[in-house]
Amino acid sequence: MGERKQVEISAEELEKQEYYIREVRRINDEQREKARCAPKYIILTYGCQMNEHDSEKMNFMLSQMGYIPSDNIREADIVIFNTCAVRENAELKVYGKLGHMKTIKKIKPDVKVMVCGCMMQQQHIIDEIQKSHRHVDAVFGTHNYHKLPEFVYESYSAKGTIIDVWNIDGQVVEGLRSIRKFDTKAYVNITYGCNNFCTYCIVPYTRGRERSRKPHDIIAEIRALAKDGVKEVTLLGQNVNSYGKTLDEEYTFSRLIRDINEIEGLERIRFMTSHPKDLSDELIYAMRDCDKVCNYLHLPIQSGSSRVLKKMNRHYTKEQYLTLVEKIRREIPDISFTTDIIVGFPGEMEEDFQDTLDVVRQVRYDSAFTFIYSKRNGTPAAEMSEQVDEKIKHERLERLIALVNDIGAQINETYRDKTVQILVEGPSKTDKTRLMGRTPQSKLVNFDGSDELVGKLVSVRINDPKRCSLNGIVI
Ligand code: 5AD
Ligand code: SF4
Repeated sequence: MGERKQVEISAEELEKQEYYIREVRRINDEQREKARCAPKYIILTYGCQMNEHDSEKMNFMLSQMGYIPSDNIREADIVIFNTCAVRENAELKVYGKLGHMKTIKKIKPDVKVMVCGCMMQQQHIIDEIQKSHRHVDAVFGTHNYHKLPEFVYESYSAKGTIIDVWNIDGQVVEGLRSIRKFDTKAYVNITYGCNNFCTYCIVPYTRGRERSRKPHDIIAEIRALAKDGVKEVTLLGQNVNSYGKTLDEEYTFSRLIRDINEIEGLERIRFMTSHPKDLSDELIYAMRDCDKVCNYLHLPIQSGSSRVLKKMNRHYTKEQYLTLVEKIRREIPDISFTTDIIVGFPGEMEEDFQDTLDVVRQVRYDSAFTFIYSKRNGTPAAEMSEQVDEKIKHERLERLIALVNDIGAQINETYRDKTVQILVEGPSKTDKTRLMGRTPQSKLVNFDGSDELVGKLVSVRINDPKRCSLNGIVI
């Protein structure tokens, strides 16, 4: 793994894409004249916030090209699948959808089908698409989705599938704008890629080596967002705690947090994901001292067994993780934790799983993302002997989910009659006449209120805690 120089994508390259945007816009405007309606697009996004945010940037490019969003795959003129490679299930879903697109394309031959994201960074997947999904118009990867305008333009004349997947990972793309789902909150990339090589994980192979954006670019982006009315940012990276390691200057994640805390108009700062091995005391103090940093931490444990953690290459033991949680709670008493847990890693015995349950009981997570270990080609764990039986994996997952849910419900109950501060995001998903927002601890709260409250911080008294959300009254 040689040192790679970190470069920003050139202004020329972005200008070239501007040219394609104008060309596609011209074609679409002509089409619109004829058909009397604008062409539509849909992006189906799988996986993590990183992918969500990449899709937000593609939304912006598509709207500039004259496309309008649709939520119906059958009526869209361009369908993009932004894929995830972390687990096999997500990959199978994409193949299923691509099969469905073949049928749609028989009825509607002009529809453009494009596939991008982490799955495409693997050669065997590209081979499979070339062999069995020849109706796909373009395949591109995680390092070059800024070329979407070019791919759309080329797809009008190309015969066969356009394939353009880059393996270079020293690149940081600056200057791409996005269309966000919410007006009040935004994602901001701070690092790309990952250097940790946890033995089960495909991400270092699909997203490349870790590289940090320059603090100046991050801060300028957040200032502009705050000016635009954004109240909450979530800083994104596979391992935000190692932010700054690839920069020329000495600059750490805790310093970034302190600098962002000074930005006027911004109310809340969140970040994910934190690797326990890199979470420094300086960061704990920055979280404690900075009023805008939410008292919430997503801290993946993956397994509670020190033996399994070693095989996962996680670089911490059960005891070290618990000591870290204790230290954080000492400094920030009302902090809440969420986590990621994998069950059925190769060689996981019942006593290892008991260690995982023990950590869940001790930390008392608000919630947890729980996964069955999925064998990923090319990762060291896929080669390990002692793969765990499917039935045992499922049975462990069920026991784990029952415990996590039980603790989550107990924590929610402690909110009864408490007053919490909510950033109002918009209409509630379950009942559009009500509003929803989140507490600093990221608890979802539903309540009655008028639209003027959207984007504001309000106090809400919780009168009806549920298992997965809280109901309250504005006070
Ligand atoms: N199998 C199951 N879960 C996985 N994750 C990553 N790779 C795998 C895998 N091969 C989980 C980890 C990670 C989350 C994003 O996905 O828990 O934190
Ligand atoms: Fe994957 Fe580990 Fe990197 Fe997270 S830290 S992206 S689990 S390799």
